[in-house]
Amino acid sequence: MTEVERAATVLAESARAGRPIVAFTGAGISQESGVPTFRGAAGLWTEHQPARVASREGFVADPAYVWRFHEELRRVCREAAPNPAHIALAWIETALADSVPTPVITQNIDGLHQEGGSRDVIELHGNAQRVRCTRCAYTSDDLPTAFEELPPLCACGALLRPDVVWLGEELPREAMRRAQQWAEQGGVMLIVGTSATVQPAATLPMLALQHGAALVEINPEATPISALAQVSLRGRAGRLLPELAEALATALDT
Ligand code: OAD
Repeated sequence: MTEVERAATVLAESARAGRPIVAFTGAGISQESGVPTFRGAAGLWTEHQPARVASREGFVADPAYVWRFHEELRRVCREAAPNPAHIALAWIETALADSVPTPVITQNIDGLHQEGGSRDVIELHGNAQRVRCTRCAYTSDDLPTAFEELPPLCACGALLRPDVVWLGEELPREAMRRAQQWAEQGGVMLIVGTSATVQPAATLPMLALQHGAALVEINPEATPISALAQVSLRGRAGRLLPELAEALATALDT
């Protein structure tokens, strides 16, 4: 039995028992769509200082600088297309729709899961294509391709900010509550393309483990999850997730 087949067996057992298959994804799943990851040689945090471009303090010090960084990231996300990994996850959701829940919990802000066809997506770190006002309750995802002036202002006169989670900020409560609820349901957590080092998101695989879930990982490199996972597949998500989806279909057929 190959490692992919072994992983598919773990997923199939969960599906047969009616237990959820919860995906937990990070920047690595979008790497093959051309969206950069954060850590590593070509990572955003190697080129940019997160404290300057992705923190409230950085924004207060120089909002135009933060916005220039964000506008470039927003452009990359907008122009990116879902890759076979996003599409395979959406396929699994459709294939298992009648038997088990298959929510996707993502740390990504690129919207590629939704574009790839996933319907139940929980965004823990916000979305690059949305803004909110720093003073009033205004929020919008109907944005121009590029703002004429940076930083953009709200109709109330205050600064608009990207509706993403910056360093040290609290995660959107409802998203985190739903994510924790899924992590507590057992079944399988399928962890794809994340270094699993950023808190509090990285508590979710641990929570899942404590509640009896099996962890299956896809990542070209070892992470803190690898030793805890029932199966840890080494390689690109764009190759391995479609293989896993196909092996799952075969396992469920037999
Ligand atoms: P990281 O950049 O920390 O990790 C990306 C992971 O993807 C690494 O473990 C890579 O080995 C893996 N990877 C790279 N290419 C891959 C591929 N083709 N297929 C599968 N995996 C691949 O990104 P995240 O774990 O998402 O937070 O980072 C978590 C958070 O840190 C981000 O959401 C962001 C950042 O600070 C905020 O901005 C709040």
